[in-house]
Amino acid sequence: MNILLIGASSAIATAVARRYAAHQSGLFLIARDGSRLAPQKQDLTIRGAARVGTHELDLLSNEEHEAAINAAIQFFDEGDIDLVLICHGSLPDQEAAEQDFDLARREIDINGLSVISLLTRLAPHFKKQGHGLLAVVTSVAGDRGRQPNFVYGAAKALVSTYLQGLRGKLLPYGVDVLDIRPGLVDSPMTQQFDKGFLWSSPELVARKIEKAVGRKKHTVYIPGYWRLIMAVVRLIPEAVFKRLKF
Ligand SMILES: NC(=O)c1ccc[n+]([C@@H]2O[C@H](COP(=O)([O-])OP(=O)(O)OC[C@H]3O[C@@H](n4cnc5c(N)ncnc54)[C@H](OP(=O)(O)O)[C@@H]3O)[C@@H](O)[C@H]2O)c1
Repeated sequence: MNILLIGASSAIATAVARRYAAHQSGLFLIARDGSRLAPQKQDLTIRGAARVGTHELDLLSNEEHEAAINAAIQFFDEGDIDLVLICHGSLPDQEAAEQDFDLARREIDINGLSVISLLTRLAPHFKKQGHGLLAVVTSVAGDRGRQPNFVYGAAKALVSTYLQGLRGKLLPYGVDVLDIRPGLVDSPMTQQFDKGFLWSSPELVARKIEKAVGRKKHTVYIPGYWRLIMAVVRLIPEAVFKRLKF
């Protein structure tokens, strides 16, 4: 399999890459921190990857997305890309983002618009090749605007809604679109939080992502119980919900 990982140094993408390396996949990694790409490439090669390419990019630079995707296409010798996993993100300080529009916009840019930019550039290539899977890590936070994280949640909801429409558009071309909605994951992004029983490891999330990719799912909650939790959260009447601080 030829796989393009965007936000490749994230804890979740790292765990996913390791799983696919063990299946001798070809991997192309796009990430912001170039100093982490060389050791990651070495790690994945040792784990069995057929070949590993890397590209350093701050994904806020939307104008550079095209070149990065072209680098991946060239790396695979103009061959097909079977799977793209978009997995970068940032969890803002909600209070700060409510008071500073520039910060809110930056967070919406990285969690929302940069993903739309990537998908806009990936979609024509996938239409042309006539198969493949575009998978994006969004979040359960996009399911409802909760007080502690609604800037992040709004950006994720933007992406989830976009994916719903794109899925239909790409269906006639044989291209699938997967919305991956993890719950609480113990990763650098959440290092400041106390962890409890609802928390998952990046490795568990990666295992579930691989399973969802194999089954050509369109939306997965990871772990699955988050589908039920969020169904209940969505059912809470707004008159009650607006009083909840969680
Ligand atoms: N952790 C959770 O509880 C949770 C829950 C639901 C969804 N998610 C989503 O899961 C995905 C992966 O997150 P994670 O939990 O694995 O956390 P993570 O390890 O902190 O990964 C976040 C990644 O995003 C990258 N990133 C941020 N801004 C960037 C930019 N401007 N350009 C390029 N890369 C940038 C970071 O790069 P650097 O390493 O260079 O900082 C980091 O590798 C994200 O989309 C996140 O929103 C996480």
